[in-house]
Amino acid sequence: MLNVEEGIDFIIAGAGLPLNLPKILTESAKTKLVPIVSSARAARILAKRWIDKFKYTPDAFVVEGPLAGGHLGFSQAQISDTAFSLENIVTEVIDELKPYEELQQAPIPVIAAGGIYSGGDVDRFLSVGAAGVQMATRFVTTEECDASDAFKNSYLQATKDDICLIDSPVGLPGRAIHNPFLDDVSAGKKKPFNCPFHCISTCDYKNCPYCISVALMNAKRGFMKGGFAFAGANAFLSDKIVTVKSLVESIRKEFADSRLNSAKTPIEESHSIHIT
Ligand SMILES: Cc1cc2nc3c(=O)[nH]c(=O)nc-3n(C[C@H](O)[C@H](O)[C@H](O)COP(=O)(O)O)c2cc1C
Repeated sequence: MLNVEEGIDFIIAGAGLPLNLPKILTESAKTKLVPIVSSARAARILAKRWIDKFKYTPDAFVVEGPLAGGHLGFSQAQISDTAFSLENIVTEVIDELKPYEELQQAPIPVIAAGGIYSGGDVDRFLSVGAAGVQMATRFVTTEECDASDAFKNSYLQATKDDICLIDSPVGLPGRAIHNPFLDDVSAGKKKPFNCPFHCISTCDYKNCPYCISVALMNAKRGFMKGGFAFAGANAFLSDKIVTVKSLVESIRKEFADSRLNSAKTPIEESHSIHIT
């Protein structure tokens, strides 16, 4: 994630709790550490561990909810349970971090992610106390996105029913756009493979029918027969390819309209848009 205003690099850590991540920092490092969590418990464990063991307060947290694209930090049952809505989890994480903020006499910004598509959504999450949002799905159908046209077209053509949950080989659920490759997986037509990467220890590569890394890279490059597109729950809303500049302008306008409609204060200077 690049904070375009200050030019500071952020390392965003997904896939498991990065309990020892501060170890990688050198004394002069400017890099900020921003773990991704899906629960208040995970935020507490990380904040406590980093402060106790490394005397390092997380620079921010991304809280990723069940409507996100890609791998999800929830069970299939939790994904459809409203108790695990992003609104609830963001609120819980903010509360959980308060004692650590007091201890450190510094704010720990919470960034909401997963299913945030419109400027109205941005408004909703800033209103519950998020310091910012992380958006992926809406930025896929931009000219600047480096995925293939075939990948972007799968977003443009997707209906709501095409957005599905998969059991990823790495042992997590994932959200994707349904396609013939995934039909073949369900029909048992894909065979176990030799693992080319050993990228994650939870991957049962001897028994799973395909390599998730290869499938995602194939899709990114446009070879959709050999893979599928990860996508957030709102991917079916995409209807055209636009520039990032015009997309950011649209989101700003939607945000301002939402503020106006709910009679809240207009867009604040501090809520600048950072591109991930
Ligand atoms: C195509 C795609 C690929 C993604 N790949 C990753 C990834 O490699 N690692 C990761 O931590 N999150 C990944 N994500 C999750 C996003 O970083 C983001 O947190 C989430 O999708 C936000 O929800 P949204 O897509 O509804 O905006 C991916 C999301 C999408 C749509």
